[in-house]
Amino acid sequence: MTFSSRPSAPATPVVLTTVAEVRSALAAGRAGDSASDAGIALVPTMGALHDGHLSLVRRARELAGTVVVSIFVNPLQFGAGEDLDAYPRTLDADLAALAAEGVEYVFAPTAREMYPSGPSETRVTAGHIGTLLEGATRPGHFDGMLTVVAKLFNIVRPDVAVFGQKDAQQVFLVRRMVDELNLPLAIEVVPTVRESDGLALSSRNRFLDAGARRAALALSGALQAADAAASDGLVELLAEATANFGDHDDVTLDYLVVVDPASFLPVDEHFRGPAIALVAARVGATRLIDNTPITLG
Ligand code: PAF
Repeated sequence: MTFSSRPSAPATPVVLTTVAEVRSALAAGRAGDSASDAGIALVPTMGALHDGHLSLVRRARELAGTVVVSIFVNPLQFGAGEDLDAYPRTLDADLAALAAEGVEYVFAPTAREMYPSGPSETRVTAGHIGTLLEGATRPGHFDGMLTVVAKLFNIVRPDVAVFGQKDAQQVFLVRRMVDELNLPLAIEVVPTVRESDGLALSSRNRFLDAGARRAALALSGALQAADAAASDGLVELLAEATANFGDHDDVTLDYLVVVDPASFLPVDEHFRGPAIALVAARVGATRLIDNTPITLG
């Protein structure tokens, strides 16, 4: 008898859609098999996965024996008039990509499963920092984000959760929540993945046509200029970054700012040391964000 030498297709992750299914699937592992001894890593996502997400999954794989990816477009973190309905949903492609990474479980609940009584009355509040920058343009966004992240942590009970540095304000707020609420897990942060021309990967990039895609390079261009001018201090940095952002039809700069990573508050011209330069802009109808670590001299 002969067997085909064709490599077998990667196993599709087990898709769990209810909280009860997650609890029972992971309880079996927690009871003491060898994978559970190596812990559980959670990668929270809203799907429409790209290489940036897959870099989080790969890091999760290095950190734990069992990897759970959540895919849930969380209505609580979208405001009125935002792109909740238009947000890309690509579950089949996402599952194929996660199968290739050897992910064991995908948690893909419905909104009714996550919020059976309608939008949660109990919320985690992101406080003052949640009202700045992204929070100024998207009121309530960070309360909704922290609330679903806290729920995911309670449902999956991971040892570690992996987030992308691309959403720097989100990372700051999640870390602070874990610290201030004594949540029993570690937070791991993975650097932003970029296209070869510098554009940060984002699920929303698929909304950019060729012209908008070119114009979107204003964001990474401004950050590169910020990094190059950082040793000259904040005033020079902001002048250079703004000049490099440039003027483009159909691109509106929202903010270009440097924050102290310890407080996430904007720094003044006397600040020296590690900082984060952040930019947000609307490119056509698509809102994009990006950031880079810098050192102010
Ligand atoms: O970064 C995201 O995709 C979302 O904000 C998150 C963390 C999955 C919560 O919905």
